[in-house]
Amino acid sequence: MPKPTIKPGQVYSRVSLANRETATLRGPKWDDLDDLTEYINGLVEEHANITKTEKVTRESEAEWLGQRLAEIENGRMIHLVAEVRGKVVGAGEVSQLPEERSHTGYLGIGISKGHRGQGLGTALMQALKELSKKAGMKILILDAFATNKVALNLYEKIGFKEVGRIPKGIYRNGKYIDLVRMTTELLPNKS
Ligand SMILES: CC(C)(COP(=O)(O)OP(=O)(O)OC[C@H]1O[C@@H](n2cnc3c(N)ncnc32)[C@H](O)[C@@H]1OP(=O)(O)O)[C@@H](O)C(=O)NCCC(=O)NCCS
Repeated sequence: MPKPTIKPGQVYSRVSLANRETATLRGPKWDDLDDLTEYINGLVEEHANITKTEKVTRESEAEWLGQRLAEIENGRMIHLVAEVRGKVVGAGEVSQLPEERSHTGYLGIGISKGHRGQGLGTALMQALKELSKKAGMKILILDAFATNKVALNLYEKIGFKEVGRIPKGIYRNGKYIDLVRMTTELLPNKS
């Protein structure tokens, strides 16, 4: 993958949301540490359909962000945050897999509770797809809880297809949930 397509703090796009607010999609930077800590802990607290179940500390998030910024710098990771009214309210990333899977990116995304249903998830997914293509990736993959209908619909709308599932892949609150694997191929633009 070529060197970073989006640098720390660099603005990728501005998006008009359904509620008439504007979101900025940009690369993460050190100053985002507190916002990102709040964002991830917010998702953990509401038991969102993500595999993370334990809250982070500011220290562990700082370590994570440091590693992230290094991975962005060496071109192994595409990461965008969504900022609304000066606050990070969403994030998405694509991590390049190693060696003979290096044409493949693993995608993850999340939007904070009060900011969903406004088109932000769609805009973030489209941006991550475009950036992955620019970076030379050929395939994107992701996993989603089979119960996460909003996410599954969104991914299908963006061009992902289910290619299989791990039955009972998640065990949560005494119940099993299937884990759905989806992929999309990044075809070159027709000229
Ligand atoms: C899944 C998620 C990223 C979607 O983000 P979002 O900003 O709400 O997405 P959008 O506003 O772009 O909406 C996408 C579609 O879902 C629909 N939608 C959004 N929220 C909905 C809701 N609560 N009920 C029904 N439909 C909903 C929208 O109408 C839109 O459909 P459309 O394109 O046909 O109009 C967000 O819900 C989220 O972060 N959830 C918690 C974490 C998570 O599940 N992450 C994904 C893990 S795989």
